[in-house]
Amino acid sequence: MTQTDALSEEFFAARERDLAERLKPRRFDHVLSVSDTAAALAEAYGADVRKARLAGLLHDWDKEHSDDEIRQRARDLGVDVDPLVLETMPRLLHGPTAAAALGREFPCIPADVLQAIERHTAAATGMSDLDMIVYVADAIEPKRAFGGLDELRSAAGKVPLEELFLMTFEHILLTLVKRRKRLHPATVEVWNHYVARLRTAAGEKGAA
Ligand SMILES: [Fe+2]
Ligand SMILES: [Fe+2]
Repeated sequence: MTQTDALSEEFFAARERDLAERLKPRRFDHVLSVSDTAAALAEAYGADVRKARLAGLLHDWDKEHSDDEIRQRARDLGVDVDPLVLETMPRLLHGPTAAAALGREFPCIPADVLQAIERHTAAATGMSDLDMIVYVADAIEPKRAFGGLDELRSAAGKVPLEELFLMTFEHILLTLVKRRKRLHPATVEVWNHYVARLRTAAGEKGAA
Protein backbone atom coordinates (compact mmCIF):
# COMPACT_ATOMS: atom_id res chain seq x y z
CA MET A 1 0.00 0.00 0.00
CA THR A 2 1.24 3.48 -0.75
CA GLN A 3 0.86 6.60 1.36
CA THR A 4 -1.98 7.76 -0.85
CA ASP A 5 -4.01 4.70 0.06
CA ALA A 6 -4.14 5.58 3.76
CA LEU A 7 -5.70 8.89 2.77
CA SER A 8 -8.28 7.31 0.48
CA GLU A 9 -12.00 7.10 1.14
CA GLU A 10 -11.73 3.29 1.20
CA PHE A 11 -9.12 3.28 3.97
CA PHE A 12 -11.10 5.80 5.99
CA ALA A 13 -14.33 3.78 5.62
CA ALA A 14 -12.59 0.53 6.58
CA ARG A 15 -11.09 2.03 9.75
CA GLU A 16 -14.44 3.58 10.56
CA ARG A 17 -15.92 0.06 10.48
CA ASP A 18 -13.09 -1.16 12.75
CA LEU A 19 -13.80 1.64 15.21
CA ALA A 20 -17.52 0.87 15.29
CA GLU A 21 -16.45 -2.48 16.77
CA ARG A 22 -13.58 -1.24 18.96
CA LEU A 23 -15.40 1.64 20.64
CA LYS A 24 -18.58 2.10 22.63
CA PRO A 25 -21.26 4.05 20.70
CA ARG A 26 -20.65 7.34 22.52
CA ARG A 27 -16.93 7.21 21.90
CA PHE A 28 -17.50 6.21 18.30
CA ASP A 29 -19.63 9.35 17.87
CA HIS A 30 -16.82 11.33 19.54
CA VAL A 31 -14.13 10.15 17.09
CA LEU A 32 -16.35 10.94 14.09
CA SER A 33 -16.95 14.38 15.54
CA VAL A 34 -13.22 14.93 16.20
CA SER A 35 -12.53 13.86 12.63
CA ASP A 36 -15.00 16.42 11.23
CA THR A 37 -13.72 19.14 13.57
CA ALA A 38 -10.09 18.40 12.72
CA ALA A 39 -10.92 18.60 9.01
CA ALA A 40 -12.64 21.96 9.50
CA LEU A 41 -9.66 23.30 11.48
CA ALA A 42 -7.26 22.05 8.80
CA GLU A 43 -9.32 23.86 6.21
CA ALA A 44 -9.27 27.05 8.29
CA TYR A 45 -5.54 26.90 9.02
CA GLY A 46 -4.30 25.64 5.65
CA ALA A 47 -3.24 22.18 6.83
CA ASP A 48 -3.79 18.85 5.06
CA VAL A 49 -7.52 18.18 5.44
CA ARG A 50 -7.35 14.45 4.67
CA LYS A 51 -4.56 13.85 7.17
CA ALA A 52 -6.43 15.81 9.86
CA ARG A 53 -9.60 13.87 9.12
CA LEU A 54 -7.77 10.53 9.41
CA ALA A 55 -5.81 11.44 12.57
CA GLY A 56 -9.02 12.68 14.18
CA LEU A 57 -10.79 9.46 13.32
CA LEU A 58 -8.02 7.23 14.69
CA HIS A 59 -6.88 9.21 17.75
CA ASP A 60 -8.84 7.13 20.30
CA TRP A 61 -8.16 3.77 18.63
CA ASP A 62 -6.93 2.35 21.98
CA LYS A 63 -9.22 4.23 24.34
CA GLU A 64 -11.41 1.33 25.52
CA HIS A 65 -8.61 -0.70 27.10
CA SER A 66 -8.51 -1.12 30.87
CA ASP A 67 -5.55 0.27 32.84
CA ASP A 68 -3.82 -3.09 33.00
CA GLU A 69 -4.47 -3.85 29.36
CA ILE A 70 -3.02 -0.54 28.23
CA ARG A 71 0.06 -1.00 30.44
CA GLN A 72 0.63 -4.40 28.90
CA ARG A 73 0.01 -3.03 25.43
CA ALA A 74 2.60 -0.29 25.98
CA ARG A 75 5.15 -2.92 27.02
CA ASP A 76 4.27 -5.26 24.14
CA LEU A 77 4.55 -2.48 21.59
CA GLY A 78 7.82 -1.23 23.07
CA VAL A 79 6.41 2.26 23.62
CA ASP A 80 8.85 4.50 25.47
CA VAL A 81 6.91 5.25 28.61
CA ASP A 82 7.55 7.51 31.57
CA PRO A 83 7.42 5.15 34.58
CA LEU A 84 5.22 7.61 36.51
CA VAL A 85 2.70 7.68 33.68
CA LEU A 86 2.76 3.90 33.39
CA GLU A 87 2.12 3.56 37.10
CA THR A 88 -0.28 6.37 37.92
CA MET A 89 -1.79 7.62 34.62
CA PRO A 90 -2.08 4.60 32.33
CA ARG A 91 -5.07 6.18 30.56
CA LEU A 92 -2.70 8.72 29.01
CA LEU A 93 -0.89 5.89 27.24
CA HIS A 94 -3.69 5.42 24.74
CA GLY A 95 -2.24 8.02 22.36
CA PRO A 96 1.27 6.54 22.21
CA THR A 97 0.02 2.93 22.04
CA ALA A 98 -2.51 3.78 19.30
CA ALA A 99 0.23 5.41 17.21
CA ALA A 100 2.55 2.42 17.66
CA ALA A 101 -0.16 -0.19 17.03
CA LEU A 102 -1.59 1.58 13.98
CA GLY A 103 1.88 2.12 12.53
CA ARG A 104 2.58 -1.58 12.79
CA GLU A 105 -0.75 -2.74 11.46
CA PHE A 106 -1.03 -0.13 8.71
CA PRO A 107 2.46 0.97 7.58
CA CYS A 108 0.78 3.12 4.92
CA ILE A 109 -0.38 5.66 7.53
CA PRO A 110 1.87 8.72 7.18
CA ALA A 111 4.28 9.37 10.06
CA ASP A 112 2.86 12.85 10.72
CA VAL A 113 -0.63 11.37 11.18
CA LEU A 114 0.76 8.85 13.69
CA GLN A 115 2.60 11.63 15.53
CA ALA A 116 -0.61 13.66 15.89
CA ILE A 117 -2.34 10.58 17.32
CA GLU A 118 0.57 9.98 19.70
CA ARG A 119 0.60 13.57 20.96
CA HIS A 120 -3.12 14.07 21.49
CA THR A 121 -3.03 12.93 25.12
CA ALA A 122 -0.18 14.95 26.62
CA ALA A 123 0.90 17.33 23.83
CA ALA A 124 4.63 18.04 23.43
CA THR A 125 7.06 20.82 22.68
CA GLY A 126 7.43 21.33 18.95
CA MET A 127 3.86 20.43 18.01
CA SER A 128 3.24 20.46 14.25
CA ASP A 129 0.15 22.18 12.85
CA LEU A 130 -1.46 18.75 12.46
CA ASP A 131 -0.60 17.84 16.08
CA MET A 132 -2.21 21.05 17.32
CA ILE A 133 -5.29 20.59 15.14
CA VAL A 134 -5.99 17.10 16.47
CA TYR A 135 -5.32 18.18 20.06
CA VAL A 136 -7.74 21.10 19.76
CA ALA A 137 -10.37 19.14 17.83
CA ASP A 138 -10.40 16.48 20.55
CA ALA A 139 -11.26 19.15 23.12
CA ILE A 140 -13.75 21.30 21.23
CA GLU A 141 -15.69 18.86 19.04
CA PRO A 142 -19.38 19.81 19.29
CA LYS A 143 -20.44 16.69 21.20
CA ARG A 144 -18.19 17.58 24.17
CA ALA A 145 -20.42 18.88 26.91
CA PHE A 146 -17.75 20.30 29.26
CA GLY A 147 -18.29 23.89 30.28
CA GLY A 148 -16.02 26.69 29.19
CA LEU A 149 -15.57 25.54 25.61
CA ASP A 150 -17.53 28.37 24.01
CA GLU A 151 -14.55 30.72 24.07
CA LEU A 152 -12.34 28.12 22.41
CA ARG A 153 -14.95 27.25 19.81
CA SER A 154 -15.50 30.86 18.86
CA ALA A 155 -11.74 31.51 18.69
CA ALA A 156 -11.23 28.59 16.26
CA GLY A 157 -10.27 29.93 12.85
CA LYS A 158 -9.95 33.50 14.19
CA VAL A 159 -6.80 33.41 16.31
CA PRO A 160 -3.50 31.89 15.11
CA LEU A 161 -3.36 28.11 15.49
CA GLU A 162 -0.62 28.19 18.10
CA GLU A 163 -2.64 30.63 20.20
CA LEU A 164 -5.70 28.38 19.87
CA PHE A 165 -3.61 25.40 20.95
CA LEU A 166 -2.27 27.24 24.01
CA MET A 167 -5.78 28.40 24.95
CA THR A 168 -6.95 24.78 24.74
CA PHE A 169 -3.96 23.46 26.68
CA GLU A 170 -4.60 26.11 29.35
CA HIS A 171 -8.28 25.17 29.56
CA ILE A 172 -7.45 21.48 30.04
CA LEU A 173 -4.70 22.26 32.54
CA LEU A 174 -6.99 24.46 34.65
CA THR A 175 -9.76 21.88 34.53
CA LEU A 176 -7.40 19.15 35.74
CA VAL A 177 -6.06 21.36 38.54
CA LYS A 178 -9.58 22.35 39.67
CA ARG A 179 -10.57 18.70 39.75
CA ARG A 180 -7.37 17.89 41.64
CA LYS A 181 -6.26 15.44 38.99
CA ARG A 182 -2.68 14.41 38.41
CA LEU A 183 -0.80 16.16 35.60
CA HIS A 184 1.36 14.47 32.99
CA PRO A 185 5.02 15.14 33.89
CA ALA A 186 5.59 16.90 30.54
CA THR A 187 2.88 19.49 31.26
CA VAL A 188 5.15 22.17 32.75
CA GLU A 189 7.69 21.80 29.96
CA VAL A 190 4.98 22.18 27.28
CA TRP A 191 3.38 25.13 29.07
CA ASN A 192 6.69 26.99 29.53
CA HIS A 193 7.70 26.34 25.93
CA TYR A 194 4.55 27.79 24.38
CA VAL A 195 4.13 30.68 26.81
CA ALA A 196 7.69 31.78 26.05
CA ARG A 197 7.18 31.46 22.27
CA LEU A 198 3.97 33.47 22.25
CA ARG A 199 5.46 36.09 24.51
CA THR A 200 8.42 36.47 22.17
CA ALA A 201 6.07 36.75 19.19
CA ALA A 202 3.98 39.40 20.97
CA GLY A 203 7.15 41.30 21.94
CA GLU A 204 8.36 41.28 18.36
CA LYS A 205 5.03 42.57 17.14
CA GLY A 206 5.05 45.29 19.81
CA ALA A 207 8.57 46.35 18.83
CA ALA A 208 7.79 46.47 15.11
FE1 LIG B 1 -7.87 10.35 23.66
FE1 LIG C 1 -10.71 11.82 22.16
